[in-house]
Amino acid sequence: MRLILLGAPGAGKGTQANFIKEKYNIPQISTGDMLRAAIKAGTELGLAAKKVMDAGGLVSDDIMIGLVKDRLKDQDTENGYLFDGFPRTIAQADAMKEAGINVDYVLEFDVPDELIVERMSGRRSHPASGRVYHTKFNPPKVDNVDDITGEPLVQRDDDLEETVKKRLGVYHNQTEVLLGYYNQWAQSGLPGAPQYRKISGVGPVDEVRERAFAALSQ
Ligand code: AP5
Ligand code: ZN
Repeated sequence: MRLILLGAPGAGKGTQANFIKEKYNIPQISTGDMLRAAIKAGTELGLAAKKVMDAGGLVSDDIMIGLVKDRLKDQDTENGYLFDGFPRTIAQADAMKEAGINVDYVLEFDVPDELIVERMSGRRSHPASGRVYHTKFNPPKVDNVDDITGEPLVQRDDDLEETVKKRLGVYHNQTEVLLGYYNQWAQSGLPGAPQYRKISGVGPVDEVRERAFAALSQ
């Protein structure tokens, strides 16, 4: 299974990626998680990315495309791969296409902007695994502790309300155009074209999971 998850910040891409990657035994290539790991490691890339991310902007296409290509070289992709947060611009999608990094499915999570800020303000993450929780909607078994490792959870620096609003604006201006891009490609039926699936990302996490699994099995 090779797929791309599309959707606004907070639509639930990371949450659902964790279920999908387990079901299909595939690596989750989350460019946001990769950048956060670079920040934590204190690399030059991390330092530069942190400024952009905290401001709610996008890291440059050249950097992101290079990062993803390098990652794919090191990654076992025998069973496929899941992209979460990439591509995010037409330039990134074109670069993927040119490099022959094809996917079987593009899965879009549809969530209205009104729900996003509330989702982000309660988000808690376990950076090492990519597991995501919400204080109210998807709480860990013990407050602020990862269910599996028992390690502490963290709040993301870009989840401040102001930054979330900026990220939503950037999504509408630069990423939403990819919905049409992939829809059209899917309809063309050309070789390499993906299947396009759109599901509602609203409702309990396990209901969205069932919708995602059903969409990927048709
Ligand atoms: P990234 O980490 O990709 O952030 P994002 O796309 O903004 O998406 P999020 O991770 O915020 O949301 P999500 O859809 O994964 O939702 P989640 O499952 O966590 O990118 C961060 C930054 O890195 C970017 O702003 C940019 O600067 C940079 N970057 C990354 N990739 C880039 C690229 N390709 N090019 C350029 N720059 C790049 O869920 C959110 C919350 O909601 C959680 O608390 C969760 O528990 C809760 N929740 C989930 N599902 C439900 C549900 N059904 N009901 C209720 N609550 C739910
Ligand atoms: Zn995410």
